[in-house]
Amino acid sequence: MTAPVTGGAPRCDRAAAPRCDLTAAWAALAGHYQAHGRELQLAEAFTRDARRFETLSFEAPEVFADLSKNLVDIATLRFFAALSDECALAARRDAMLAGDIANPTEGRAVLHTALRAPRGAAAPFNAEVHGVQGAMLAFADGVRARAAAGELTDIVNIGIGGSDLGPAMAVRALEAYRHPALRFHFVSNVDGHDIAPVLARLDARRTLFIVASKTFTTQETMANAAVARAWFTAAASAAPIADHFVGVTTNLAAAAAFGITHTFGFWDWVGGRYSLWGAIGLPIAIAIGSEAFRAFLAGAHAMDRHFAEAPFERNVPMLLGALDVWYRNFHRFTSRCVAPYHQGLARLPAYLQQLEMESNGKSVDLAGNALPFATSPVVWGEPGTNGQHAFFQMLHQGTDVVPVEFIAVRRAAHPYADLHAKLLANCLAQGQALMIGKTAEAAAAEKPPTAAAGIDRNVLARHRQFPGNRPSTTLVLDELTPRALGALIALYEHRVWTSGALWGINSFDQWGVELGKALAGELLPRLDASQPGARLGDTSGLDGSTAGLLRRLTRR
Ligand code: F6P
Repeated sequence: MTAPVTGGAPRCDRAAAPRCDLTAAWAALAGHYQAHGRELQLAEAFTRDARRFETLSFEAPEVFADLSKNLVDIATLRFFAALSDECALAARRDAMLAGDIANPTEGRAVLHTALRAPRGAAAPFNAEVHGVQGAMLAFADGVRARAAAGELTDIVNIGIGGSDLGPAMAVRALEAYRHPALRFHFVSNVDGHDIAPVLARLDARRTLFIVASKTFTTQETMANAAVARAWFTAAASAAPIADHFVGVTTNLAAAAAFGITHTFGFWDWVGGRYSLWGAIGLPIAIAIGSEAFRAFLAGAHAMDRHFAEAPFERNVPMLLGALDVWYRNFHRFTSRCVAPYHQGLARLPAYLQQLEMESNGKSVDLAGNALPFATSPVVWGEPGTNGQHAFFQMLHQGTDVVPVEFIAVRRAAHPYADLHAKLLANCLAQGQALMIGKTAEAAAAEKPPTAAAGIDRNVLARHRQFPGNRPSTTLVLDELTPRALGALIALYEHRVWTSGALWGINSFDQWGVELGKALAGELLPRLDASQPGARLGDTSGLDGSTAGLLRRLTRR
């Protein structure tokens, strides 16, 4: 067992958090929006400024970011630089990276960056981090050796939220690096339809279960782990549980009580949705091996340094965070679409939903005052080109403007060059179409499709026109390597911090998930006769709708 170290972070807040809307820079931004930003026409802006692409595209480690198709110009970014100064962004970033209590409502430091600092770096908890990391990576390589010898074929990660989404996303993204003799399964939902088909495919004696839970109390994970343990005992009665179950948690006592003796720990200063860099990343380390996992960490660390050192004007995570504030609070766009043009990034939008919406879906500032402005947008998406044949219609012609974030990868990890060229052509074309649109006049000049020949040309043109001027960002990676993926995820983490810091909120708690958990606990005995204190079908004290639904669901 690898023991974690708990607590120990300096309990001070060296950098106060002024709220963005109370600054002079915010008022200046509002003026800039009214005078200029609101009306900015992208196509015209490119005609006016032949160097717009060069001016508004930026290099970060492993990630090139083209911001030029956004409703900003260099003046907008300068106004945001002034806002970042007034909001003491640099000082607050430094305080967080140094281990101050950046999550005051849980009394915790926020140090996921320490998990990817190299051995010997002057980062908090460096020795403890590398102690666990070394043990975890040695274990991962041992599992890979057992797979190569035919002893293990399947890895099942049981966890939810941050204990599932990051590893599931990364293992899928790094498929090209996966150990060929291992299959990976991620069970998260308390819905038995999740675990049942997975168990049905497994050979118990060749399976390793990872029970991943920061708290080791999460209902879904504990319930699925109990199902897996019972299934394993029945299916492989003579095999020791200790050889087939490992735990990843800050709650070593609860893991031991569950019967898991082999455990990798982490710390309360690692938030669940920021935890894939440490022991929660065990499935990733098993999939790609210790060397590639170290490259994954190194990519994230390179992005950390960029975030910590680059001036705001060239700091890509900060610029993206500022853009999020611009769109949410000035343009009042309500959502952002993430469209990775790489099938390996299929789970990235789901991962980003937790990262961004659990972090910044808040409505009070750090002092508990109700916010007079909007915070987290809805983040959603699907890989391209699939999304083009589903929701892109709305993006191009719907009544809402949704900024789109394209992610393009220059080199593919497959041999089908023609497919990759088509993929990239589509990616570029979508950003172009969103921006340039098509006027009614241009649509009217087109030859109408035969089936629409009877419709008035001008009426048809109104259906076939595109408003254009719809913003998008394009992030470009050279290749989806472990290092590049690490950098990309760290970029998103710091971007979420930036918008949260400008809004003056706590991006690191998640009290909004508690009420539903508590109510589910109260409802369970009314739905399950085997629960202690069961009251099957009892609707007393419930609101009319919940009572009606309970009756419906429990009727014989
Ligand atoms: O959904 C709330 C939450 O606490 C997330 O923040 C977290 O990632 C998830 O539940 C899982 O928690 P745990 O790792 O403790 O099981």
